[in-house]
Amino acid sequence: MAGYKAGERMPASRVFCEELGISRNIVLLAFEQLALEGYLVGRTGSGTFVANTLPDALLLTKKLKKEPKSDNASYINTEADVYPLPLPAELIQRNSARETVIPFQNAIPSFEDFPFAVWSKIANKVLRYFNLSHLGYDDAAGYLPLREAIANYLRVHRAVNCTAEQIIIVNGSQQGLNITGQLLLPRGAEFWLEDPGYHGARAALVNAGGKCCPIPVTTPDGLDLDYAKKHYPNARMAYLTPSHQYPVGGTMPACKRLELLAWANQNHMWLIEDDYDSEFRYTGKLLASLQGMDKGGRVIYLGTFSKVLFPALRIAYLVLPTVALANHFRYHKAMLDRQHPILEQLILTEFIQEGHFTRHLRRMRILYKKRQDTLLACLRQYAPQLAYSDMNESGMHILVWLPEHLSDKAVSELLRQEGIIAPPLSDYTLTNFKKPGLLLGYSAFTEAQITQGIEKFARVVNGLI
Ligand SMILES: Cc1ncc(COP(=O)(O)O)c(C=O)c1O
Repeated sequence: MAGYKAGERMPASRVFCEELGISRNIVLLAFEQLALEGYLVGRTGSGTFVANTLPDALLLTKKLKKEPKSDNASYINTEADVYPLPLPAELIQRNSARETVIPFQNAIPSFEDFPFAVWSKIANKVLRYFNLSHLGYDDAAGYLPLREAIANYLRVHRAVNCTAEQIIIVNGSQQGLNITGQLLLPRGAEFWLEDPGYHGARAALVNAGGKCCPIPVTTPDGLDLDYAKKHYPNARMAYLTPSHQYPVGGTMPACKRLELLAWANQNHMWLIEDDYDSEFRYTGKLLASLQGMDKGGRVIYLGTFSKVLFPALRIAYLVLPTVALANHFRYHKAMLDRQHPILEQLILTEFIQEGHFTRHLRRMRILYKKRQDTLLACLRQYAPQLAYSDMNESGMHILVWLPEHLSDKAVSELLRQEGIIAPPLSDYTLTNFKKPGLLLGYSAFTEAQITQGIEKFARVVNGLI
């Protein structure tokens, strides 16, 4: 509005017609457009004015020197069940900065060995022959052929008793845990959690309004069932990692599984079986899933592609004991986020159907076992005074014990300053487990990285013993 100041009255339209030699209609149209864009305001009976605040000023995005004063955090509903936060933020969230994976980060697959060429070939094919009907809304339970492929895999490899109709595709195990807590755990009800145990499960079930009851883990067979029954007989749910206790290791034996199932049946208790890394079994016989032994329909089976493929895929699945229950979950999933993005589901379906999934799994099993052997050999060579868990028949990390007088958090911090990531066991511990230890992941690192990393690790830790 060159020549006119904010708030100034505009000359009548006829003045513009005369000055510019144009028709009145054009001037009126221009006024109308300027009013629409916010430059002019009409005041009945007194004419048209230049707006006091011109839209240009609002459109200019100045670089903020400081955050606005208002403290938005104070508006968060602190009465809600999410408070107090069940976990320190750093345990559950990551910064957006793309850090390279640093030895000995835990629970991460080998990205370098992911068959990316195959994956992108399938992705190209999926896009080239894309069926436009996939662009619409689909079943909130997930893409049916993917659920069928998962059901086939689970029946053969994990003895899970299921059909595709019992499966719900979720955005990572974390969403599966959240939905399960929200739907099946009454507010205020107790749930058993292995201690040490998976903090992602604790966060989800506490957020759902549950009361966490830490149950000590006895080695080598997992959760102390006698303790749980005695101290928390009224619990309505249990979160378990029976194939490979996380993070201590060990497998729950068949007799204990049967005892647990019988208790769950008698006490109307739900059992969440998190089978997060059962694929990486190196020695010994893999026990069938708890779900496969369940005759009473108490087990909610949870599996993820985060470990075998990659976590950013965000595809995991729940297997519900009945189709009727699966339908409740499907409804809830639809309310949360409608459905899982389709592209990844289409690619993954072909990846499984064409045999790449099991091929990759076989390759990784051999590779990770080699890496585990290297890590153990390096520990023996460079840190012979340290004890470590001998329950290494499966998994992606080794648990190293520290002498009792050391704080695992402090040692972990010292190591971090030296460029080594070794999460302290106490981050996974609630009340019952006081032994200091460090988790050393090996799956994502080459043998050379493992050797160099352990040399560095030993220099720090040996100096403290
Ligand atoms: C015990 C356990 N379950 C599940 C997961 C995987 O979670 P998500 O599927 O959400 O990536 C992890 C990841 O570290 C884990 O440690």
